Order: sequence, then C-alpha cells, then structure tokens
Amino acid sequence: MTSTAPDRVRVHTAPADAQWWRSAVIYQVYPRSFADSDGDGIGDLPGITAHLDHLVELGVDALWLSPFYRSPQVDAGYDVADYRDVDPLFGTLADADALLERAHRLGLRVIVDLVPNHTSDEHAWFRAARAAAPGSPERAHYLFRDGRGEHGELPPNNWESVFGGRAWTRVTEADGTPGQWYLHLFDAGQPDLNWENAEVRAEFEDVLRFWLDRGVDGFRVDVAHGMVKAEGLPDWSGHVAMIEGDEQGTVPGGTNPMFDQEGVHEIFRAWRRVLDEYPGERVMVAEAWVDPLPRLARYVRPDELHQAFNFDVLVTGWDAARLRRVIDSSFAANDAVGAPTTWVLSNHDVVRHASRLGLPDPTSRPNGIGPDDVQPDAELGLRRARAATLLVLALPGSAYLYQGEELGLPDHTSLDPSVRTDPAFFRTGGTELGRDGCRVPLPWRADAPAYGFSPTGATWLPQPDEWARLAVDVQRDQAGSTLELYRAALRLRRDHALGSGDLSWAPEVSTDPTVLAFVDRDVLVVANLGEGSVQLPDDGHVLLSSAPLAAGAERTVPAATTVWVELR
Ligand code: NOJ
Repeated sequence: MTSTAPDRVRVHTAPADAQWWRSAVIYQVYPRSFADSDGDGIGDLPGITAHLDHLVELGVDALWLSPFYRSPQVDAGYDVADYRDVDPLFGTLADADALLERAHRLGLRVIVDLVPNHTSDEHAWFRAARAAAPGSPERAHYLFRDGRGEHGELPPNNWESVFGGRAWTRVTEADGTPGQWYLHLFDAGQPDLNWENAEVRAEFEDVLRFWLDRGVDGFRVDVAHGMVKAEGLPDWSGHVAMIEGDEQGTVPGGTNPMFDQEGVHEIFRAWRRVLDEYPGERVMVAEAWVDPLPRLARYVRPDELHQAFNFDVLVTGWDAARLRRVIDSSFAANDAVGAPTTWVLSNHDVVRHASRLGLPDPTSRPNGIGPDDVQPDAELGLRRARAATLLVLALPGSAYLYQGEELGLPDHTSLDPSVRTDPAFFRTGGTELGRDGCRVPLPWRADAPAYGFSPTGATWLPQPDEWARLAVDVQRDQAGSTLELYRAALRLRRDHALGSGDLSWAPEVSTDPTVLAFVDRDVLVVANLGEGSVQLPDDGHVLLSSAPLAAGAERTVPAATTVWVELR
C-alpha cells in the first residue's frame, strides 16, 4: 500500500444496538424435502427435529420453516386450509411444539411462514363464501365480483395469474347458474383474501398470536406486497412474471394495481404492535418483490416489518459492478430507515445459485431448467456459487440460506414432466417448467436409500444419481468440501462479528471493476469475479478461500474466488 492509494469508502456503519435478527444467519427449511421420518417420501416435522443437529453444526442462528399447515398442497402448502393446524403429511401440533422446544434447547430460533394474501379454496371461509349468496358477509372475506359482458361471462378485469392464465375463476351459484368470479393472483386453489375486511384483519392478528403463544420467534410474510389491491381493481395489461414479480409496476408511480399499494403498510403496523407485546424480539420478514430498493425499504420502517428479503443480489448474476451497486444501494436504502439489509442467493422459488451461476447468462432467471434446455456448467456454477456465498456471508446484515446450498446442491435439471408438481407448470401448459428442480429432497447419507432422506427410499421427487457424492456424510470433515466451507465461514463470521460490522470499499487492494474488495471489521474480503487473478496485500493472514489457492501463490486470488484475510 502506498500513501497515494485511494481512500477507503465507508458505505455502512454498524448500528449501536444488537438485536439478534440484525445480523442473524437464517436457514430455510423446506419441510417436504428436508427429512422424512415416516417413509412416505415427504419430509415431516419429526424428520426436521431429528436433524436439527445439522443446523447447529453448520452454525446458523435460526431456521425458517416453509408452510406445514393443513393444506390440500395445490401449491406445496402455500394454500392454507387451516392456519392453526399441522397437515397430517407433516405431523401434528404436538410435533410442531416438539420441534420448537428442541430448537430452542439447541439455541436455534424458529420463524414460521405466514400466508396472508390468499387461503386455500378448502379453507372453511372459502367453502362458506362459495355456498353463500353474492353480496353476503361470507363472500366479503374474498374478492368476489360480477363478471363483465352481457351475462357476466367475462372476467371482472384482465389480470393474469402469476402462475399463468387468468387471475379469475367463475363459481356456480347454489341454484346451479353460472355466478360470480373470484380473484386469485396465484392458482385457482388460492383465492385472494379481501384485506379491506375487518374480520380478515382480526383473524390474522389472532393467527399471529396463536403461533407467538406457542413460542415461535417470528414470521416470514408471503406475498407481503400483494395483500391490498388498487381500488376498483382496474385493468392492467402488464405481465406479472413468475419469479421477479413485476418490475415496471412497482417503481414509484408504477401502475401495477396488484402490488405494493399504500394500504399494506397499515396492516404491518398493526402486526408490529402485536409482536411488540411479546418478549424476546419476535420478528417479521417480508417476501416482497418490490423495486427499487428505497421502495422496498418502506416495508421495514421502524414500526413495520423487521426485514425484507433483498432479492436484488439474487437476480444480479455474476457482475461485480452491478453487485457493488446493489450492495451500495441496499445499505443506503435500509440504513435510511434503520433496518438491517438481508442477503439471499437461493430459495424454494428460484433455480439454485450453484446452477444459476453456471448458465451461459447467469443473469437470466429461468423458471426451472429441463432436459431440453441448455444445461448449466456444473463445475463453474459451483465455483461461482461458493465465491458468491463467501461474498454475502462477509457482508453486514442478515443472511438467508436455503437448505442444501451448504452442500453445493445444483437444481435437478432433467426432471421428467410426469413428476412435476408446480402449478406454474400446469397453468402455462409446460411453457414454464416451474420450481420443482430446486425442491428435491436432501441427500444425508451416500449409501442409504434415498440418500438417507427417507427410511423406505421413497422421495416425492427423484434425486439425481450424482447427489451421492454431495451427501452430508460424504462432505462432513472433508477438507475443501462445500459443507466445510460453509461451517468455516459461519464460524469466522461469528468470531469476527461480520454480520454486525461496518463496510468500507478498499480501492487500495484493487480498482479492477471485476473485483469487489472491502473491509468489514478486521477482515478484508476480496471477491474476484473476473477472469484474471488479483494480488492480495502483503500483510494479513488468509482466513478462508472459496477455492484452493495455488501452492507458492498463496497471495494470489484466482478467477471466480473469494478470499477472507484477517488484517493485523
Ligand atoms: C411466494 C412463495 O415463496 C411461493 O412458493 C408461493 O408459490 C407464492 N408466494 C404464493 O403463495
């Protein structure tokens, strides 16, 4: 370093308080694919409880459970028929209590999914609404409207479902005549609730209390940006994409009447008051595909939700300049409202990052990859995924991991259409493959049936043969394995308090636009997204590298590699 080296640029300063969620690493458990205890091929709550040690070994702070409530499973449980009960597929309420108890004993917090935008069409309220007359209080829980056209044969507006096809379904009235239409932004089995209705509001506050009383540490709020629709449900001809929501429609002044309406904020303020009545920093995280980031930050103002998933990093691909812009604007937007920034690379709705980053265009966002598609470069994808993970785990804020990414799992990219279950696949006539490829059951033991996922060998989706070598028991204590990389990263992140640190860009290390170099606490992070190599400064001890450093060139960061260096 010379005296003429450019100065560090501080872009984030640690807040003074230390609420657990501000820096937590939260691991998403997708119950049907985590661990199956009863051998029916579908994961369950006792299976999760039996494998919580894995999360402790990994070093995460909390887990978030995707829905396990009573549900006909039209959308893998995001169609809830009873918010206060466990689906028999997953176990019982007693199993949920046992899971909570064991997790807490192990020092893990537990966040559950809340699905407030829609219920299942098998929810008692929707059954009652169908049976009742137009204009009844039962229908007012949902968004029923008369159709257009001479005989009401046309849908009330032109909205499309996020899963494809129209967002309205017509019911048959009690007298057998074709009747009103109901709105469903997703599948027809997921009717949208009417959030202007006071009973809907009261019901969900009660559901929050039901789970808070059982001891959950918080909620992940599904489709948080969609609950309130624009008054009058006006026509809108934009396309709502599967994964990213709608970008044009959610910019300020945007016109999408389905999302990001002002009215949602008052709901979150009411919920926050409920959570604040409980001890122990219970939290809510928004799933809201809202752009740009300052607009998303409105969901995490001090009296609303605590966090929102920051999907901007996930959709950025493999481009250092863009990533730097996203990191800068994430801190700017969240710091402005005093909220932590979150970092997310994978979840149950997107192609896993080990596959996505191996695509010819890593910024493309295919809704699933099939055998006829261009296949990701598995080796390159995993190498980049490991580098991307070390980059985000070094950033201040809270990080979300999706089950299996700690094993470097790719998507299943050759699933037969006959085994697909995602409603998006059916509603688009197969044009969109959907999300099954990222939801394949986990491999625990290389030499066991279903790689240890289920005692009988049954799996609701087939596992790729090559997953044997990715099983937990193969990677555990194996130097250089992805599992050991995650464990080391989480240990060091904790030891150096990186999640609650400051961030300064370190141009003295590199000004190459394909390199991200920054300092958080006493750790220098160099993420080389370029094709060349980057020289580390002479001082400082290398703590961790996402790929091996060549013998004799231990201070050279090769392409597609992130290195953490402890500054002395
Ligand atoms: C977002 C969830 O993550 C996704 O899996 C689900 O299909 C939709 N919301 C609808 O609930």
